[in-house]
Amino acid sequence: MGELRRFGVSIEAELGDRFDAHLRAKGIPSRSEGIRDLVRNALVAAEWTGTQEVAGTISMVYDHHRRELLAKLMDLQHDYHGLTVASQHVHLQHDACLEVLIVKGPASRVQGLFDRLRAIKGMKHIAITRTTPGHRP
Ligand code: NI
Repeated sequence: MGELRRFGVSIEAELGDRFDAHLRAKGIPSRSEGIRDLVRNALVAAEWTGTQEVAGTISMVYDHHRRELLAKLMDLQHDYHGLTVASQHVHLQHDACLEVLIVKGPASRVQGLFDRLRAIKGMKHIAITRTTPGHRP
């Protein structure tokens, strides 16, 4: 951590109480740490636009018996080749696979891949974790 800067924050009492309760529930040790987390998340979210280089994970749960879903999944990953740095497939249950893609590339392309994966018919669940390569923490 670099040099620390202190600043005062004014906040409505009720909102402050809710923030303190949130910190306790999440085990975040101090208001400063909680606010730092919020600032980092806001800056990462702001980076996820246009051609900014971003990184993240896409987690999907689907039924591998649905052959048309598998074909579409494969087509899309090839359409967006170069974005998927690594992938992992776990056979969760008889009819459920968990597949996680680690993705890296321009924000708009990563978002485009996610949107198209999400649109695949029969996808049971899909989620994206947006993070940053860390050049601007
Ligand atoms: Ni499987």
